[in-house]
Amino acid sequence: MTATTDKGTPGAADAPVETVTCTIDEVEVTVPKGTLIIRAAEQVGIEIPRFCDHPLLEPAGACRQCLVEVAMPDREGNVRAMPKPQASCTMTVTPGMVVKTQRTSPVADKAQEGIMEMLLMNHPLDCPVCDKGGECPLQNQAMKNGRATSRFVDIKRTFPKPIHVSSQVLLDRERCVLCQRCTRFSEEIAGDEFIALQERGAEQQIGRFDEQVLDFAPPGDDRSKVVDVPLGIAQPDVSGQPFASYFSGNTVQICPVGALTSAAYRFRSRPFDLVSSPSIAEHDSCGAAIRVDHRRGKVMRRLAGDDPAVNEEWITDKDRFAFTWQSAPDRIATPLVREDGELRPASWVEALEVAAQGLATARDDGGVGVLPGGRLTVEDAFAWSRFARTVLRTDDVDQRARVHSVEETAFLAHRVAGTGVGVTFADLEAAPAVLLAGLEAEEEGGITFLRLRKAVKAGARVFSVAPFRSRGLARLDGTLLPTAPGTEADWLSTLATQADGGLVPAGADRETIEDVAGALGQEGAVVLVGERLAGAPGAYTAALRLAEATGARIAWIPRRAGERGGVEAGLLPGLLPGGRPLVDDAARAEVAAAWGVDVGSLPDTPGLDTDGILDALSVGQLTGALVGGLELADLPDPEHARRALGAARFVVALEVRHTEATALADVVLPVAPPVERAGSYWNWEGRVRSFGQALESSALPDHRVLDALAAQLDVDLGAAEPLDAHRAIAAFGAWTGGRAAAPRSGPPEPPAVAAGTAVLASWHLMLDDGALQDGEEHLAGTAKRPVARVSAVTAAGFDVFDGDLVTVSTDRGSVTVPVAITEMVDHVVWLPTASRGCRVHDDLGARPGEPVRIAPAEKGDDA
Ligand code: SF4
Ligand code: FES
Repeated sequence: MTATTDKGTPGAADAPVETVTCTIDEVEVTVPKGTLIIRAAEQVGIEIPRFCDHPLLEPAGACRQCLVEVAMPDREGNVRAMPKPQASCTMTVTPGMVVKTQRTSPVADKAQEGIMEMLLMNHPLDCPVCDKGGECPLQNQAMKNGRATSRFVDIKRTFPKPIHVSSQVLLDRERCVLCQRCTRFSEEIAGDEFIALQERGAEQQIGRFDEQVLDFAPPGDDRSKVVDVPLGIAQPDVSGQPFASYFSGNTVQICPVGALTSAAYRFRSRPFDLVSSPSIAEHDSCGAAIRVDHRRGKVMRRLAGDDPAVNEEWITDKDRFAFTWQSAPDRIATPLVREDGELRPASWVEALEVAAQGLATARDDGGVGVLPGGRLTVEDAFAWSRFARTVLRTDDVDQRARVHSVEETAFLAHRVAGTGVGVTFADLEAAPAVLLAGLEAEEEGGITFLRLRKAVKAGARVFSVAPFRSRGLARLDGTLLPTAPGTEADWLSTLATQADGGLVPAGADRETIEDVAGALGQEGAVVLVGERLAGAPGAYTAALRLAEATGARIAWIPRRAGERGGVEAGLLPGLLPGGRPLVDDAARAEVAAAWGVDVGSLPDTPGLDTDGILDALSVGQLTGALVGGLELADLPDPEHARRALGAARFVVALEVRHTEATALADVVLPVAPPVERAGSYWNWEGRVRSFGQALESSALPDHRVLDALAAQLDVDLGAAEPLDAHRAIAAFGAWTGGRAAAPRSGPPEPPAVAAGTAVLASWHLMLDDGALQDGEEHLAGTAKRPVARVSAVTAAGFDVFDGDLVTVSTDRGSVTVPVAITEMVDHVVWLPTASRGCRVHDDLGARPGEPVRIAPAEKGDDA
């Protein structure tokens, strides 16, 4: 054995690694100690057939397809063969081991043939109609390593089929080879055991625990029958629990046969008819690699891409299944211009002319507010930023279509913009402790959640400042730091005070505070803050203080794919590209030089944020609006936003589909969805995630539309082509001047809870009623059912019981949903932000931290 350095393992750059040398098919190979035979063989280009083996799952030795002949030196050094072939996916190499695979050993070859023959005894030969046909490891290995003819003459085992594991995952049991990849994934990776191995021996089957469907229940007993439930409602299993996994589609992808299929893709196409394009998922700020499979201009499915640095080989079900929004029937096909109160199709020439004239008039007559939304690519974001500052000559620009604050603007400008790659997924995996503040990792960044699970399995501790211990936090074995919404700053400041050696407030939970502050003081600890902290006064300030006091690194994880890129591009008031403060003369001079404009033409005082822009539009202080990717229902007060855009004299919208914003626009310019254009996202790590154009299309990306619009007003935006857009971005070097000042806000006053009210807590569930999930009903079927979570004390105060319908209301409106009694902070009610039947912003007009009324639902109120 020798000591070498492993440069290929993240986090282990300089760690000495013990190695082992063995021989595989007469080739000598040296690998790190603990390497499995099957992996060592791969190192020298030898492929051993396998079904259950998966590099990211624990070895199971379930299928026996990887049998090889193994010999090892005995105590005297004589190399002796083991009496039977061994599973190469469970045995690690040892010094001097001699391995013979099917290539050099008739024994191994015969053993593999025998296993294959046994698997094929009951496996149907329905490859022509099976989704996996053409990309099936069983099919491929049967051709390569199987017998030419079958000796099996009996009738194959059959089952009623398929089982609906959920509304989107179907199981054909006769195809299953019991490799347990799916069960190990759900247990080890996702941590939600939504699929399990039932019974043993010949009876062994994969399924949910569902006796009737698996034929284990006595005849006539239909207590666990899978029933047709309306789409949009999670299907309960026999335990009465709704099926709930955000990662179930990964099992379809790693199933080595066609036993697990997706309802959306089943029987839709053959793998060899598909064209595959690598891409990046647009649903969150993780930047997961995906593969888009399309046929004749239509996306048929999406699969996880393999990117060890980011998503490894996993994606969320939303990343996998939610893509039909890009080709929804309400796609805008041509530019539209308002005439006599109605939008009518127009040519690009006419629409650009009308839009340019209208924006120029509005700019010179009050000003234009710019709301570009949080889903832009980096190329688009830089074009929007430049268009706002050079064409519209305004700093009234804000990408945040959500709750936001001045404190958040300062935090992003001070700590995030222009900082490049900071905390990475690998850092999370190696962190000894992670504190989540204003972030529900599973709901708001699925890949981040999976990395945290990996970290926890390696010994990391997770803490969360939240009103209750969510299912996601429980699966991280996390510790709740219970907090009423809006008061997150209290915990963060107290922990910072403890780490600083100060006096923590009397009556505080000293033991927990010392424990958490101590954990965060360890090298490699991380504080992850989410965008929801914008609704908690003082929280960003306190999070920064905590990071400083403990030495923990801090990272901001927004929900939307474009938000980090938008921060880099300066889509916030007072912030220019690359973290340059707008009020800094040198920063403005650099930006003016990069954009080729006179520095005096750039705005020099910070503009309005989203709330300010909408206020100014509604009172006529601003007369025009340029909006894009804007769902008004996402805004904290959609009604106010509707009134504001309605009051604006001239509105231009750049949109993929018809929205409420386009209905209020004077000119609508259609833009391309991600699948029809190339671009890049900047994920939360600060990593650039570029993707190519998958489908041929004449649709134009935002940057090209803005470039044409600017040309109408004699401004060269330098963003006509992606290459131009990249050059324009590259024109900005790193900013070496002063950064924006750190936010300074004190902790809030504790909320006063009047009789009959509770404080609203809310966050988005991953699967909800969002516009990017439109048209995917199978996916919607696995969404969590909206409930109102309250503590037992709170419930008793309102005379409601678990499961009762309750009405949560404000002066604006109400929602009626079932109550779920939850161990949580008293006098708080949690609702999902935008689920079907429960849209907090639209229905209540309330923000988290504000009081809402609770009452048992009146008879006739619907959930
Ligand atoms: Fe393996 Fe697929 Fe069967 Fe699961 S369903 S055990 S992944 S063959
Ligand atoms: Fe080794 Fe299945 S791959 S036992």
